[in-house]
Amino acid sequence: MGLFKKYVNQTRKPEGFLGKMMVNGMNGGHAKMADWGMSHLPEIKPEEMLEIGCGGGRNTGVLMKKYPFAKITAIDYSEVSVAKATGYNRSGIESGRCKVRQGDVSNLDLPDERFDLATAFETIYFWPGLEKCFAEVYKVLKPGGFFMIVNESDGKDEMSLKFEKIIDGMKCYTPEDIEAALKKAGFTKVKKVHHKTKPWITVLARK
Ligand SMILES: C[S@@+](CC[C@H](N)C(=O)[O-])C[C@H]1O[C@@H](n2cnc3c(N)ncnc32)[C@H](O)[C@@H]1O
Repeated sequence: MGLFKKYVNQTRKPEGFLGKMMVNGMNGGHAKMADWGMSHLPEIKPEEMLEIGCGGGRNTGVLMKKYPFAKITAIDYSEVSVAKATGYNRSGIESGRCKVRQGDVSNLDLPDERFDLATAFETIYFWPGLEKCFAEVYKVLKPGGFFMIVNESDGKDEMSLKFEKIIDGMKCYTPEDIEAALKKAGFTKVKKVHHKTKPWITVLARK
């Protein structure tokens, strides 16, 4: 495998030296899109939040600032991501508001009906079976809880479709694909937003 392919494959599960480089870049590289996605969150006052596939942990920190009375659990199945997100959110962890844990969304080891808000930025492309993973998220959300997905691909843009060919296990989804999987997993209300000029999408579902 060439170096470029090895590097971009680190987006799926950052590992080793290249993974550390990738995670360092993600916090800055995804910031604008993540903030655009978060601007679509409704007026809510969450007490417990879950950030899934947290990568370098930047969005975990932003959510803590946005909801200063909420606690957050950030999970990722990559050790490298967990280490970076832990360092990035050190003060939140020390104050008891934030936990960063290694975990796989396809088998969440978390209490049922614990969270008011779950988020997933730039990560569902790699989840092993959307419907099964969405059902795991559904299980840990409180009734009425929200699940927000933010992707920089709308499933049709050329750039992401090129990456889909070179990143093992990556799958790009249209908002309609995501909505269908959310509904199969039990979510009832689903709202889809497409950026005006970019292929960015936000999908917000309610339990
Ligand atoms: C492209 S990065 C995005 C990181 C971060 N959310 C962001 O927007 O910068 C994808 C992250 O999802 C994580 N991930 C992928 N599949 C996962 C799974 N099944 N369970 C938990 N984390 C997963 C990867 O390890 C990686 O850190």
